Amino acid sequence: MNIVVVGTGYVGLVTGTCLADLGHRVTCVDIDARKIDFLKRGTSPIYEEGLEALIQKNIHLGNLLFFTSLTSAVSDAEIIFIAVGTPSDVSGKADLQYVYAVANELGQCLDHNVIVVNKSTVPVGTAAEVGRMIAQNFSGACEVVSCPEFLREGTAVNDFFHPDRIVLGVRSRAAEDVMLKVFEAVQCPKVVTTVESAEMIKYASNAFLATKISFINEIANICERVGANVEEVAYGMGLDSRIGNKFLRAGIGYGGSCFPKDIRALNQIAGINGYDFKLLKGVIEVNNNQRLLAVEKLNRLTGGLRGKTIAMLGVAFKSNTDDVRESAAIDISELLLERGVRYLRTHDPAALMNAKKILDKRVALFEDPYAMVQGCDGMMLATEWEQFRHLDWQKIRSMMRTPVLVDGRNLLDPVRMQRLGFLYDSIGRTLTASPSSQFKTNRVVVREGNK
Ligand SMILES: NC(=O)c1ccc[n+]([C@@H]2O[C@H](COP(=O)([O-])OP(=O)(O)OC[C@H]3O[C@@H](n4cnc5c(N)ncnc54)[C@H](O)[C@@H]3O)[C@@H](O)[C@H]2O)c1
Repeated sequence: MNIVVVGTGYVGLVTGTCLADLGHRVTCVDIDARKIDFLKRGTSPIYEEGLEALIQKNIHLGNLLFFTSLTSAVSDAEIIFIAVGTPSDVSGKADLQYVYAVANELGQCLDHNVIVVNKSTVPVGTAAEVGRMIAQNFSGACEVVSCPEFLREGTAVNDFFHPDRIVLGVRSRAAEDVMLKVFEAVQCPKVVTTVESAEMIKYASNAFLATKISFINEIANICERVGANVEEVAYGMGLDSRIGNKFLRAGIGYGGSCFPKDIRALNQIAGINGYDFKLLKGVIEVNNNQRLLAVEKLNRLTGGLRGKTIAMLGVAFKSNTDDVRESAAIDISELLLERGVRYLRTHDPAALMNAKKILDKRVALFEDPYAMVQGCDGMMLATEWEQFRHLDWQKIRSMMRTPVLVDGRNLLDPVRMQRLGFLYDSIGRTLTASPSSQFKTNRVVVREGNK
């Protein structure tokens, strides 16, 4: 099928490239001419495992084209995906200006019947509004479908080919058939709903996942007070199939380009519809508080942050991505500077370039983690990159002025860190909690037959 994808960010580029790999003819469009230049040469502007190779393969096969002009791209399109950003505005509302700009432009340049698919995360009613906007200038048939995206940055390509489900919000049987054909080769449940339900499924899913994170963070905070270990607790909880073990990892809270803005947007949608979503407000408050608690731990262990040199290990909002949007590390860097940290340094394996654009200019960026820690009074581990686990921690301990380490992601083994001589703290893990030394953090030993 001939498909156009508007927006080549994390969602648009992955969707467009993977649809091309399924055998569709895909044209990706972006107003960012620099990005399109990169892409035409087969270079991915984002860090996403396996993506660049797929882009190059499908350019070579002639399945994947990159344009800056929407008008030229849509001339023989059957389906047009909208995958532009929907950031928060100052009130927390989803800012739909980019979606509406595409809708307006489509209205002006369409000259044949198409299906428009909204992949951006948008409030209920947006697909209908996009349809109205297109219809102002285009009198042909154009059904607007909702197909929300659930990919996770870091595993986005794999998530495209092996999703838990594909949600298709449609108004007609014809649109349903076309959308099922687009994703025919992807084996997963296809959930066909009304457009409004599809739009809501996306927000409800993200809100639920964020609730799980804030819930386990609250449990972690109680664990610290009662001498329990949140990892043992989460493991024990997660074995219950009604609960599940995902998103039960305590730490400095969620961040990224989706959860914070989507949770705020749902809270705002509830508000303007006369509903006080108390639970969601609590989720947001707990999440903000986790950053403060971690900074407080560092403050206590360093004997006060004022005038200190602090290292922040990791700045991406999670591992395996270069995305720093609403990263917990960014919030923490601001809190540390507010508390009077004199020199703040950071290292990240992939996100330094993006971090440079939004971090306070006082934060020094280091390509080498060992160079960063030299002479530091304390360190905050803020992103759960697997390679951080394998750093030479003995060397790091010897290079720091005072070996204070707050592990905001519960990545490292507390017993080992203390043995190495670190003044170490993490989130909700009481060291003496397990009666068995076989319980290693992050590696739970299950005794079979002991149910
Ligand atoms: N990033 C994720 O992990 C993720 C996951 C699920 C859903 N989503 C949702 O998908 C949407 C897109 O997110 P993203 O992270 O890919 O955004 P992004 O900011 O990475 O990319 C958006 C792209 O759209 C382009 N763009 C803006 N206006 C345009 C226009 N008029 N014409 C052509 N291109 C235009 C921008 O230049 C940019 O390249 C958002 O609604 C987001 O909430 C994102």
